[in-house]
Amino acid sequence: MIKHNTIVCGDCVKILSACKEPVADLVFADPPFNIGYKYDVYEDRRKYDDYYAWTEQWMGACCAALKPTGSFWVAIGDEYAAEIKIIGDRLGLHLRNWVIWHYTFGQSTKAKFARSHTHLFYWTKDPRTFTFNDAEVRIPSARQTTYADKRANPRGKVPDDVWSFSRVCGTFKERVQWHPCQMPEKVLERIVKVSSSPGDLVVDPFSGSGTTCCVAARLGRRYFGIDVSEQYVTESTKRLADTLSGRRETTEIAENPELLRAERRKGLRAYRT
Ligand SMILES: C[S@@+](CC[C@H](N)C(=O)[O-])C[C@H]1O[C@@H](n2cnc3c(N)ncnc32)[C@H](O)[C@@H]1O
Repeated sequence: MIKHNTIVCGDCVKILSACKEPVADLVFADPPFNIGYKYDVYEDRRKYDDYYAWTEQWMGACCAALKPTGSFWVAIGDEYAAEIKIIGDRLGLHLRNWVIWHYTFGQSTKAKFARSHTHLFYWTKDPRTFTFNDAEVRIPSARQTTYADKRANPRGKVPDDVWSFSRVCGTFKERVQWHPCQMPEKVLERIVKVSSSPGDLVVDPFSGSGTTCCVAARLGRRYFGIDVSEQYVTESTKRLADTLSGRRETTEIAENPELLRAERRKGLRAYRT
């Protein structure tokens, strides 16, 4: 049973499978990558077949919960990107983009190149009917910033499929100290803005530190998050309340306080419905 504007504790496969009809406008999933991260309760080192079968289950449950006009985004590392692509194809989803989220990473390597990216798969259920709010995510084009080209579209351009956003470093205000792999709000902002509209329902089956729900609420969307860890649910629910009340600052607040205040006002409305 999906209760809007909550983060609940439980197994996403069970909870989403119990959904009687498709309700989500956008599903964003950042599953455990099966690379041995230390989570509160989840064991992130499973046999290949077990992890693959489970991935099929949760992706299937997400698809069933997704409206016919909905969008489905999945973040994954190199280890299982190929498998995720195949499962998405088998589920009959339409791949719109295979985005690379690029980040610079401080570590230096000697015998190979340092990993500095995560895959972001973007599918829609329908090949033609879906939300893509291009105006919400346009950025200044090189024609505008570099070449002073008169042909430049004054509204800028839709970003390419390689995105550069910093990871959430330990020193960032945005960083929570109780979750091992927090997504940056900036990545979620672009996804939530482009693939949903105010009032839409955004679902995150692996809610973790609550990034997706915080961003969705701040942008005036309804949200529903699930995590197996009671601790993460309790802490992320606090993070959500602190974000919306202004007690917690994110990186972007420092950059654009006006925008954030406006977004927060919208978010507060959604939070209270
Ligand atoms: C990669 S983290 C998600 C991080 C999140 N995107 C964020 O920004 O904080 C994956 C999360 O999935 C949770 N998890 C693992 N198995 C689950 C399941 N069956 N149902 C719901 N959550 C699960 C883990 O507890 C962990 O918090």
